[in-house]
Amino acid sequence: MRKALLGAVFATALGAGAADAATIKVGVIAPFSGPFAMFGQTFKEGIAVYQAVHGKTVGADTVEFVFKDLDQANPAQSKALAQELIVKEKVSFLAGFAFTPDAMAVAPLIDEANIPAVIFNAATSAITEKSPRFVRSSFTLWQNTVPLANHVAKLGVKKAITAVSDYGPGIDGEAAFKATFEKAGGAVVDTIRMPLKSTDFAPFMQRIKDSGAEAVYAFLPAGPTTLAFAKAFADNGLKEKGIQFFGPGDITQEPDLPALGDAVLGMTTSFHYSQAHESAANKSFLAKYKELFGSSDNATFTSVGAYDGVHLIYTMLAKTGGKSDGLKAVEAVKGLSWESPRGPVTIDPDSRHIRQTIYLRTVERVNGKLQNTEKDAFPAQPDFGYKLGK
Ligand code: PHB
Repeated sequence: MRKALLGAVFATALGAGAADAATIKVGVIAPFSGPFAMFGQTFKEGIAVYQAVHGKTVGADTVEFVFKDLDQANPAQSKALAQELIVKEKVSFLAGFAFTPDAMAVAPLIDEANIPAVIFNAATSAITEKSPRFVRSSFTLWQNTVPLANHVAKLGVKKAITAVSDYGPGIDGEAAFKATFEKAGGAVVDTIRMPLKSTDFAPFMQRIKDSGAEAVYAFLPAGPTTLAFAKAFADNGLKEKGIQFFGPGDITQEPDLPALGDAVLGMTTSFHYSQAHESAANKSFLAKYKELFGSSDNATFTSVGAYDGVHLIYTMLAKTGGKSDGLKAVEAVKGLSWESPRGPVTIDPDSRHIRQTIYLRTVERVNGKLQNTEKDAFPAQPDFGYKLGK
């Protein structure tokens, strides 16, 4: 009904009918091959679920997604792919971006072409400061880490250590944890930064053991990295030593839970989406997922980031009418609120980042299957890292 009305307004504004219907292209840059292919796959699944529910048209226009594979963090290649999408494919939007450096790299291109870029995952606070045409439907490390660090302090932990991948989101996670935990009276006894490509975590486990910390806060990109780190934590006897393990929910994302197994049973993480989130919106999201793909086991934060990201693109199109000024399109979603499968969300008009509930969740086995059970909720959390120290 609302969509039909907007469509009618759009058609009238152009003074045209179906004959002028256009195809609006959205270029999606993400890993579709290699160890991080789950990002691309779940982006694609989230997009498909959205289009299955809401259709492939906005007004008279058809929305088409064009996918480009970028298997790992590679800003030069991201820029080249964005250039190709803008010049050859004539896309009206860019979207996707698993890794922070790949999102950062396209800022000058989206400004030059005056098109919006919707970030489905990359989670370093500074991204949206690089261009007024960035809008983010995912999360930031600051947003997830502040409630978690307060929780760790409340548990009575006095000494903690951080272990993060040495790039944007890891450095943000470390800063957020340290600032919040120390303000709450705790001490961060050491900060470990691990190369993004690390696969052997045993030396870091030794450093954690030797530090005297009672708890570790860790961030690594979801996938083989988090799997290897969690396994190393279990295999190197840190749990037996009584060291508690915390982090944002990238570590326990649903597609990885079967492989992680008991290594993460009982682990508390903070995050914006759990497959086990109890709401009507999540139930119908998962039902559609299952209908399209035979199972909803892959439904994870990146599927929801893409699903909500497409909602932003559709809203920009409906409100501004087809291929338009990128800045105007972004303006049209500032302050937009809706019910996501993750819970209620709003696009913060200043940061263009998504405000949302952050949940504390514990990994439990329910009916034989591991899940992230939500235990506590912190509504309407902003990006605490936006323009920090600027
Ligand atoms: C990022 O590069 O911003 C990033 C990558 C993987 C994650 C989270 C953030 O799981």
